[in-house]
Amino acid sequence: MPLMPLTQLLCPLDQSALLQDGNTWRCENNHCFDIAKQGYVNLLPVQNKKSLDPGDSREMITARRDFLNSGVYQPLAEALANTVDTLCDGRQQLAILDAGCGEAYYLNTVCEQLLKSGVELTATGLDISKWAVRSCKSRNAKLNGLVASNRQIPLPDNSQDIVLCTFGFPVYSEFKRLLKPNGHIVMADPGPEHLIELRKAIYETVRRNPVTDISAALEDNWHLSLSNNLQFTTPVLSAAQFEQLLVMTPHLYRASREGRERAAKLQDITLSADVFIRVISQT
Ligand SMILES: C[S@@+](CC[C@H](N)C(=O)[O-])C[C@H]1O[C@@H](n2cnc3c(N)ncnc32)[C@H](O)[C@@H]1O
Ligand SMILES: [Zn+2]
Repeated sequence: MPLMPLTQLLCPLDQSALLQDGNTWRCENNHCFDIAKQGYVNLLPVQNKKSLDPGDSREMITARRDFLNSGVYQPLAEALANTVDTLCDGRQQLAILDAGCGEAYYLNTVCEQLLKSGVELTATGLDISKWAVRSCKSRNAKLNGLVASNRQIPLPDNSQDIVLCTFGFPVYSEFKRLLKPNGHIVMADPGPEHLIELRKAIYETVRRNPVTDISAALEDNWHLSLSNNLQFTTPVLSAAQFEQLLVMTPHLYRASREGRERAAKLQDITLSADVFIRVISQT
């Protein structure tokens, strides 16, 4: 069963339905959004942009793509795929949104697993960075690609079964609006020991922050239905992988000159990955 195209979007200017008309998405008030040659659509209104080139830069996206493609975080991709597969077991049709998809490494792995069971799948990668969405489309042209913000997601109410948000910026009210009554938010966030060796090298003092608080999401009839702490050790990183990791994380940009010099001297290291996979569901 193939991946399916989106059939309806929301106009970011007036929230009315956007329907595809050739290479354009158009609303009843004649707002038009062209499909880029890479196959994605940019629905981020200029007035909602805080910078000319919001989100992760081209350089960060390229570094993350190359790092993830080398398989270092494959245990996490597999754990996410198994989690979503279990949540959606038995459904014939599924719609999944990756909100802040980056270059869609995790989304694509999840889709590959779901497609094995013959489900009809509509999968969408959304990111505020056009570089991320371009990278998502070049990973898999059948993934739907949207440049937009999690603050205003241009998808209809009750349209998604799963919202995936890995190392991202969740906006729970939007995620809940999009989800069908039996839908789930699937999150991956760093735990206190994540990349601890790298952080010890870079910073004078290392804080072991607890995993992000999600209590704001657990209101009304929403509850935490799964919390799984995944810990693994990476293979020995090559110099190239280590450089990619530094570019794709905020650590390089936050580090002092001394910290960067210490990090540059690290060689032949393995790193601890410490990630919490949490699922927020409706009761
Ligand atoms: C740390 S990266 C994680 C990317 C991907 N989910 C992954 O795990 O590889 C965070 C991503 O969120 C995007 N982002 C930042 N602010 C956003 C927003 N308001 N709405 C949607 N995406 C956003 C960035 O451009 C970046 O691609
Ligand atoms: Zn409109």
